[in-house]
Amino acid sequence: MAKKHVDVKMCRENAIIAEDVFSDDGVLIVSKNTFLTNYIMDKLNYFNIETIVIYEFDNVDNELGGYESHIRSFKEEYDSNVYLVKKVIVDLSKGEELDFDAIEKISLSLFHEVSYGNSAVRYINRLKVFDDYTYHHCINVGIYTALIGKWLGCDDEKMKEFAMAGILHDIGKYRIPVEVLNKRGVLTKEEVELLEKHPVFGYEMVKDDENIGTNIKDAILSHHERKDGSGYPYGLRGNRIGKDARIVAVADFYEALTSNRPYRQKVSPFEAIKIFEASGMETYDLSVAMTFFKNIVNCYIGEKVKLSDGRIGEIVYVPPYDLINPIIKIGEEIIDLSRDTDIKIESLV
Ligand SMILES: [Fe+2]
Repeated sequence: MAKKHVDVKMCRENAIIAEDVFSDDGVLIVSKNTFLTNYIMDKLNYFNIETIVIYEFDNVDNELGGYESHIRSFKEEYDSNVYLVKKVIVDLSKGEELDFDAIEKISLSLFHEVSYGNSAVRYINRLKVFDDYTYHHCINVGIYTALIGKWLGCDDEKMKEFAMAGILHDIGKYRIPVEVLNKRGVLTKEEVELLEKHPVFGYEMVKDDENIGTNIKDAILSHHERKDGSGYPYGLRGNRIGKDARIVAVADFYEALTSNRPYRQKVSPFEAIKIFEASGMETYDLSVAMTFFKNIVNCYIGEKVKLSDGRIGEIVYVPPYDLINPIIKIGEEIIDLSRDTDIKIESLV
């Protein structure tokens, strides 16, 4: 799709932004594939952005068609990645070797998708998963870890490594019975002990595999370690926990909360960040988490939300210093959730 650089002041409303727009300090202001609304233009002006790149089309419907067709092809790729990771894990449980070629294929697919833009974030949010949660979780965490790499400014090789670490982080769950993984009630002490062995099970399986890098092996073993020493399996603290493991941990936290599980309904991205602020500050890598959150919230601009008063609105802006209270537009009305404290976001729709 052709693109062109344009002066923001000369831009017409409803153009589609073709490349991510960043502030001077590297924070994502507007994601690729966002419609240019008056509100977005105000935002660009606020950050003194003078030029942007938009798709070069005369007809907005065509541009939308391009975006929707990209989402369709992404869905096909996504489904085939879920199928592939399921096959790898099922084969492992039958005693077969880890299919590294399949894992590498998935990693490359996620890397390419994430390099292209941030549409995957919106797609994941629209997914309604009823079965095979574990496999979707591997793919989604792989997407989030690759995105964190991109937003931290890492090179392509590092992004691919993060994607693979994300895909493989829970590979040890192949030894945990599905009844335990999906149990709705409270787990017994024995079940918790078994579940908490999955990092060691995963590590044991890959530790002698020369195809898999040391950082990825460490991420598999240490993604449940926490910087205050409260994690498992060894209670490591601070920088004793490797970078890949700290990145996977943040992606894992966010994915787990924002996806439906057999035993719990998902929360909105903003609620997930609120939960992080209440309970994750002492346990996760803050600089990784804040880079991720500051960027990912902007991927939801333009998405519809259901509010606690039953109305449907559109996210038009997320203040960089108050990520849990986006600005919502309903018709001509603008709602600032930091001031309208009686209104909450119930869900993205
Ligand atoms: Fe895990």
